[in-house]
Amino acid sequence: MADDLPESAPAGIDPSTPTFARVYDYFLGGKDNFAADREVADMVMRLVPEAPVVAQGNRVAIERAVTYLAAELGIDQFVDIGSGLPTSSNVHQFARAANPAARVVYVDNDPIVLAHGRALLTETGVAAFIQGDLYEPEKIFSDPALNRMLDLSRPVAVVLAAIIHHVPDERDPAGVVRGLHPFLAPGSHVMLTHLHDSGDDPRVEEAKGILQSGLGGSYFRHSSEIERFMDGLTILDPGVTHVTAWRPDAPAGPLEHPLHTQMVAVLGRKD
Ligand SMILES: C[S@@+](CC[C@H](N)C(=O)[O-])C[C@H]1O[C@@H](n2cnc3c(N)ncnc32)[C@H](O)[C@@H]1O
Repeated sequence: MADDLPESAPAGIDPSTPTFARVYDYFLGGKDNFAADREVADMVMRLVPEAPVVAQGNRVAIERAVTYLAAELGIDQFVDIGSGLPTSSNVHQFARAANPAARVVYVDNDPIVLAHGRALLTETGVAAFIQGDLYEPEKIFSDPALNRMLDLSRPVAVVLAAIIHHVPDERDPAGVVRGLHPFLAPGSHVMLTHLHDSGDDPRVEEAKGILQSGLGGSYFRHSSEIERFMDGLTILDPGVTHVTAWRPDAPAGPLEHPLHTQMVAVLGRKD
């Protein structure tokens, strides 16, 4: 949509304040975003034109991890917290390509994600979408729609892709991830991707300031800090790794870009 045409937003959605989900959707080439979201992303891309590859690399890591969990570790239940807006391929499509019996519950706290997610990601007996907040895991895991879809007495995989980097230090990101553990049966897994403070691209240093002032709440962290978010879990090989270096033999083929050092992936198991 051209920027000079008025955009209509569904009831209850404020198009003038950028959100994580909509800015990320724009980076991925999606259409569920407004001028305010595009303004922030465009400012970042004026500085780092290839910035969208970070989001694309993140999606590759999600596909590889979900495929590995479903095909090789026998996981057939997934909870994707901070799922974001539906995109070309989503967790239930990755999981069910590997195991046709897999079931997925998507969770997000952004009302526009709920509206689009309910329409596009819900499939009876396959996938459900619930509005929920990462900071309230007891509400997420006691949600009736989640419990109709998943059997929490059996292992699940929780996907925390590109969400924990929105949790500020004051809100204790390690504690937030640990707060999920009591709801997970032994043999469950947690997959996490996170913006990475690689310090190897001066343009990114400047872009961080733009993200922070335009959108707020996006924290690049060192890999040692991110590894601590997996405390209490057994970290599986290859540990905390740049998104496209994480099990690069899995589906989607090799896809490498120098900017992929800006995001890392890690997978852990609850024993
Ligand atoms: C950058 S998007 C990532 C989307 C998808 N997980 C991916 O990696 O491709 C982050 C998502 O997390 C959601 N989010 C942020 N904070 C949240 C919270 N406290 N509870 C639930 N969702 C949250 C946002 O609404 C957004 O949809």
